[in-house]
Amino acid sequence: MSRVVAENYSPSRDSFTVPFYTMDFTNNNHLQPPLSASSASSASPTLGQMLKRVGDVSREATGDGSDTPVHQVLELGSTNLEVPRSIPFVLSFNKLTYSVKVRRKFKFPAMLPSRNNHRLGAATDTDPVGGESLFTTTKTLLNDISGEARDGEILAVLGASGSGKSTLIDALANRIAKGSLKGTKTLNGEVLGSRMLKVISAYVMQDDLLFPMLTVEETLMFAAEFRLPRSLSKSKKRLRVQALIEQLGLKNAAKTVIGDEGHRGVSGGERRRVSIGIDIIHDPIILFLDEPTSGLDSTSAFMVVKVLQRIAQSGSIVIMSVHQPSYRILGLLDRLIFLSRGQTVYSGSPMNLPVYFSDFGHPIPENENRTEFALDLIRELEGSPGGTRSLVEFNKSWQDLKHSRKGGSEPDRGGLSLKEAISASISKGKLVSGATNNDAISPNSMVPTFANPVWIEMAVLSKRSFLNSRRMPELFGIRLGAVMVTGFILATMFWQLDDSPKGVQERLGFIAFAMSTTFYTCADALPVFLQERYIFMRETAYNAYRRSSYVLSHGLVVLPSLIFLSLAFSATTFWAVGLDGGLSGFLFYFLIIFAAFWAGSSFVTFLSGVVPHVMLGYTIVVAILAYFLLFSGFFINRDRIPDYWIWFHYLSLVKYPYEAVLLNEFQDPAKCFVRGVQIFDQSPLGEVSTSLKLQLLESMSNTLGTKITSSTCLTTGADILQQQGITDLSKWNCLWVTVAWGFLFRILFYISLLFGSKNKRR
Ligand SMILES: Nc1ncnc2c1ncn2[C@@H]1O[C@H](COP(=O)(O)OP(=O)(O)OP(=O)(O)O)[C@@H](O)[C@H]1O
Ligand SMILES: [Mg+2]
Repeated sequence: MSRVVAENYSPSRDSFTVPFYTMDFTNNNHLQPPLSASSASSASPTLGQMLKRVGDVSREATGDGSDTPVHQVLELGSTNLEVPRSIPFVLSFNKLTYSVKVRRKFKFPAMLPSRNNHRLGAATDTDPVGGESLFTTTKTLLNDISGEARDGEILAVLGASGSGKSTLIDALANRIAKGSLKGTKTLNGEVLGSRMLKVISAYVMQDDLLFPMLTVEETLMFAAEFRLPRSLSKSKKRLRVQALIEQLGLKNAAKTVIGDEGHRGVSGGERRRVSIGIDIIHDPIILFLDEPTSGLDSTSAFMVVKVLQRIAQSGSIVIMSVHQPSYRILGLLDRLIFLSRGQTVYSGSPMNLPVYFSDFGHPIPENENRTEFALDLIRELEGSPGGTRSLVEFNKSWQDLKHSRKGGSEPDRGGLSLKEAISASISKGKLVSGATNNDAISPNSMVPTFANPVWIEMAVLSKRSFLNSRRMPELFGIRLGAVMVTGFILATMFWQLDDSPKGVQERLGFIAFAMSTTFYTCADALPVFLQERYIFMRETAYNAYRRSSYVLSHGLVVLPSLIFLSLAFSATTFWAVGLDGGLSGFLFYFLIIFAAFWAGSSFVTFLSGVVPHVMLGYTIVVAILAYFLLFSGFFINRDRIPDYWIWFHYLSLVKYPYEAVLLNEFQDPAKCFVRGVQIFDQSPLGEVSTSLKLQLLESMSNTLGTKITSSTCLTTGADILQQQGITDLSKWNCLWVTVAWGFLFRILFYISLLFGSKNKRR
């Protein structure tokens, strides 16, 4: 049993001495032989074990099992831990080949035989492999790559820029569409299904995709809330985050915001470690990383790889690409694959590099960095007439020789199938994602696809959105400002309209303009998702939450701000313009503006799910909204729109709020808008004197046979609605249709996410 001492513990003190989490970067600066999987695992308990102990400790320390883990020191000597030998995991990949079609450049001289075409030999980038056509040529990005990675070890993929490192990591991490990648990938001899890989692995991208306004601690805490199961209490999640912060050496930066170009935040190295932290929060069995050390100074890079070594030693397979590892980092790597133009030029332990290159006839000089030498040699060969073909061939024969010497040793898995091995690993405490190994009736139910139910995911996502917008109040401020300024201009331009024929015309203009501006001001929702999209893709690629939860919370989170904007806009314009209907009229006016904002923001959100760039998005939004206005019925009545365009009239989002406000405005049958001589107001006779107009009225009365005096009502509100062609829907139906449009676009947004954000190469 572990020894537990309760004492004054403050998280800022360095007294959290757990072997797995303790950092000792200083005394490891020399090249060490790699640890064997079994010895490593006995020194490094898994996260699950750590959490269990930490949980026990907090219960003992607080005495009541409550959620406040203070005043404690953990001293968990590795000698006391009874950790069984780790379950061996071997990821093998065999003959991975991946090619893409690229458009052929038409260069006239290239069609003729040229000396250049012979010079580079077989190792050109665009080696034809088949599938050649007049317009396309096949480019092989990975060519027959084989190898294996084991738990407890770090497999590093090395090579010059463009050699195919990221492509190989993508291929292994199942980020290349099924049909395109040839070859096999197996885990413990069984073909690895994509669903299984998703739940047992994690992928750390080359770019840090993080929310700039969240602190390091908050970012990791959100990851914990997404990835760790509900059964784990909040305090345990917090402990895991604290432990991770310690493990990643981020203690000094924990309360600092991530930052971006506009805001100062944590350093590049710290950001890198936060990215890694997010993906290892649930202790995956396989961890893929693309260039985790790029852009870091040598100490930070070493710290990152050291962290990765510890993760590996806790029973995970770590596969990463690295540009040019330093001497110290090389000491932490267990297996290397050197790539050159998509082909393997070396595969094996870093220890064997000197023998390999001396056998090849290029011994590594004393005191020279091995990887630098190897990369330089590869680059030299790439530029030579024969390319790297000789080295590729030499590597093949070297591999064959190694295999025949070893006699093809299979890892000892104690007779466990893959499912059993994963189950055993979970019971040892790996993969903290609500996994249970009790209900092993169906192995697929062993690891739940998602750690939390929908409502928890929605709550966490909404909390994060609110936190983000609270940190960037200027975004909402700008939007509110835009709405208020528009409202103010409209209010002053259309100040207290009267009920004359001119006033009616102006009312129509005001309503059409006001309704279309509500849509235009929604356009600023466009960059919101476009900026978040890659974070969303990263998070959903490894099942942090469901896409549906994201769409639902996205829709919910906008509501408060839309209510506020609608209230601001309707209050500034309704009484200033002199719209009709009193309080109930205002309430309906507010509701329809709110519905218009809702439909508009849903429409823009849907667009942001399908367009790739902000600028293209804006162009499309502006163009489509202009057409919506054109077909709304304001410029041309419905019955005057040509038959072949009438469908667009019904699609026009502006039509429904526009009609709803008109109905709200002109619904009173007793109200008169053209009375007596006002009939001449909008005609060429408008300028003649009143007495003449009265005479004209009299002669019209005689001709028509009805008495028309200066007080006779000639046009009521109903007549205006009739003239405008507003006859098919009631105002409430217009409101419901507008709301329904909003829901429809949210559903379309969901579909676009299902199909559009796959995060895979073709
Ligand atoms: N879709 C594609 N079409 C054509 N060429 C591609 C495509 N994707 C990648 N490549 C090419 O494949 C090669 C390997 O790319 P990859 O990103 O794997 O290189 P890398 O080794 O990771 O480089 P770096 O160190 O710069 O990240 C590059 O030459 C790249 O230009
Ligand atoms: Mg790369």
